[in-house]
Amino acid sequence: MPESDAGFLWDFWYPAMRSREVRGKRLATAMLLEVPLVLGRTGEGKTFAMRDSCPHRGIPLSYGRFDGKTVECSYHGWRFEACSGQCMEIPSLTSQDKLKVERVFAGHYPCEEHDGYVWVYMNAAGTRLPEQVPAAPKLSVSSERFRITHLDCELPSHIDHGIIGLMDPAHGPFVHASWFWRKRASIHEKEKKFEPIPNGFRMSPHTPSSNSAPYRMLQKYTGEPVTTTIDFVLPNIRTEEIRSGKLWFSSRATVTPVRRDLCRIDFVAAWNLLLPVTIFRLFAKKFLRQDQETMILQAEGLKHDPRLMLIDDADRPAKWYFGLKANLLESRRTGAVMVHPMNGPVTLHWRS
Ligand code: FES
Ligand SMILES: [Fe+2]
Repeated sequence: MPESDAGFLWDFWYPAMRSREVRGKRLATAMLLEVPLVLGRTGEGKTFAMRDSCPHRGIPLSYGRFDGKTVECSYHGWRFEACSGQCMEIPSLTSQDKLKVERVFAGHYPCEEHDGYVWVYMNAAGTRLPEQVPAAPKLSVSSERFRITHLDCELPSHIDHGIIGLMDPAHGPFVHASWFWRKRASIHEKEKKFEPIPNGFRMSPHTPSSNSAPYRMLQKYTGEPVTTTIDFVLPNIRTEEIRSGKLWFSSRATVTPVRRDLCRIDFVAAWNLLLPVTIFRLFAKKFLRQDQETMILQAEGLKHDPRLMLIDDADRPAKWYFGLKANLLESRRTGAVMVHPMNGPVTLHWRS
């Protein structure tokens, strides 16, 4: 199977698209882990995700029609119940035919909506769903009223490069140097504590970098210390929570494999600070664009399959990511409990 060597992690939730892109009786398409999907919303408002391929002859089901309940294939008119994928009708059958229509299924995946995204649980081809599919990720918010905004950008990279780029602490002063964030000359030695958490690691709660203007402003405003907690968990989720007194800011970035040479960052942030969405988006977009431009340049070099290095301590989180991924696959293969690549809390040092 070509999927098996693309370095994807199956049996996890991935965001397929924004909720608002799935409306009415329109069928939308997306690709996750090289699987083409057709998504839609039933008349009752429930989103669904099917493999965008008719089980009869493989034509994309997205060329068919959707009546709010069933998807009708454009080729021979087979109809499938959208949420279960179960075949409801094969128009060519006569009363003499023995084929059990209800035993035919179109490929379909569990689908949930949170934080403005349609999430799809990508279980590996040919495997059964676990009895209890875990809940899809949800952004943590700490008050009833808050602002929220979403951004995304595509990276012409393998998922692993997308993720290690996301957790890389040493590129900041070079890629994101700017007057409002930090000056390149402000590079200084940092010490950060990390601890293992299930399927990932946490940068222990700490007071963020004193050379970042926004944190200094926040501290001045509330008069209370600012703490940041950053988590990474498999397969692809980085969350960051910043608190100062009653004020909070919470964000999540996921890097989702579309194909082996393409991934997408979906970034959602919510906060109850007096920070207008428009201003935040201006800065966040610039940040993402800087990362994207860098990854485009990197992809140029990676075409030639160079040998690469992971150095201590700045690339240690990247090493943990590869360790987590390998150990998860190993535990799935053997059925043994997953071994965490960290034995306990670790303090890392780098200059950034
Ligand atoms: S290909 Fe879909 S019904 Fe024949
Ligand atoms: Fe970056």
